[in-house]
Amino acid sequence: MSKVKDPSLATQGELKIEWARAHMPVLRKIQARFEREMPFRGLTIGMCMHLEMKTAALGQALKAGGATVAITGSNPLSTQDDVAAALAKSGAHVYAWRGVNEKEHRENLFQVLGHNPQLVIDDGGELSVAIHTELQRLIPQMIGACEETTTGVHRYRALEKDGLLKYPVIAVNDAYTKFLFDSQHGTGQSALEGVMRATNMLIAGKTVVVGGFGWVGRGIALRAKGLGAKVVVTEVDPVRALEAVMEGHSVMPMKEAAKIGDIFITATGCNQIVTAEHFKEMKDGAVLANSGHFDVEVDVKGLRELAVATRTARLNVEEFRMSDGRRLYLLAEGRLVNLAAADGHPAEVMDMTFADQALCAEYLIKNKGKLEPKVYGVPPEIDRSTASLWLETHDLTIDSLTTSQSQYLNSWK
Ligand SMILES: NC(=O)c1ccc[n+]([C@@H]2O[C@H](COP(=O)([O-])OP(=O)(O)OC[C@H]3O[C@@H](n4cnc5c(N)ncnc54)[C@H](O)[C@@H]3O)[C@@H](O)[C@H]2O)c1
Repeated sequence: MSKVKDPSLATQGELKIEWARAHMPVLRKIQARFEREMPFRGLTIGMCMHLEMKTAALGQALKAGGATVAITGSNPLSTQDDVAAALAKSGAHVYAWRGVNEKEHRENLFQVLGHNPQLVIDDGGELSVAIHTELQRLIPQMIGACEETTTGVHRYRALEKDGLLKYPVIAVNDAYTKFLFDSQHGTGQSALEGVMRATNMLIAGKTVVVGGFGWVGRGIALRAKGLGAKVVVTEVDPVRALEAVMEGHSVMPMKEAAKIGDIFITATGCNQIVTAEHFKEMKDGAVLANSGHFDVEVDVKGLRELAVATRTARLNVEEFRMSDGRRLYLLAEGRLVNLAAADGHPAEVMDMTFADQALCAEYLIKNKGKLEPKVYGVPPEIDRSTASLWLETHDLTIDSLTTSQSQYLNSWK
């Protein structure tokens, strides 16, 4: 069973998935092994993820490994209706369309959980929060969960800290082969792409203010700098602020950055990063975008209250006119700009992330009953395996330690 916007879009979606798969050789290799070994035979995997072409490729790999897959989108604007239609046609249970409201999103989450999953793959922790709070009857059958993003990992760790976590969770987000590439290079490139697609603005010469210098923020700062922008970073962590300084960026509080920024991109995972006190200081024409998981980083409600008029300026661009005549432009309703206004991360980086997801899901199954209800890091052998497969599938080889080198490195003498 599925509920998508328009099943007739499936052919277009199939082309997109084929394109993604063509750039995901690691996942293809894992899928081929899954087809032989069927690690998920008889199991149902519930997924709540940005439903675009790369995610569909992951869903199909899990299905090829014997799983029944039920999936919904993790953000109202990141679902691509053609991909959702194609994934449904390929046999997954899909409950997703672009533009869902809160009520529909919740219904879709419960539709997925209605398939009685033993494993969930979350991007933001939503399926597991629903299981822990409202569908506790599923807990006894749950083998575990994998989490895709920093914000979701925070939520799972908070559940664990309160002693409430009921099954093992792997923080896939924390794999080296995830955050070093997906969060940094994937979001870095695609967030800028989202801003450029939405606005068609020149980045060179602009002042780009990046809120947060974590893995996502540093990627955005790096790409903005590469496009010729002057980058200003805002932070609350002195070490990360220091890193930003050493990368050649300016660092200052948002109150000061607000006065000089042309483009603001938040990526903190925290809320209220750009608020009314900042909107009042901003230049005419300032652009506001978010790349953090939830739409809480730009205070959209505050912006709406300050504005005397609003209108849609372009697709994914809303204009807010202030009482003094200044206009501020909000992209994609303050939701993840890289997914709402572009296609999200390039397939080559999602290849690693989704290889990690597929291998961690398999790890949970293989270790059923042996893991505690805790948040686990990604087993180092999975990280290494993903990295090795990526190099191998790109015809890249590296040196290996000789015996005497190994002995040298392991000696205290
Ligand atoms: N758009 C995407 O596709 C995508 C991809 C990966 C992660 N994410 C999301 O992006 C967000 C950031 O992820 P990350 O992995 O970079 O996290 P991170 O924890 O590595 O970095 C966040 C940074 O923001 C800083 N920060 C926190 N509160 C702040 C505040 N009030 N003002 C200024 N700085 C503040 C922190 O000190 C930290 O350095 C999360 O919500 C994550 O889920 C989005």
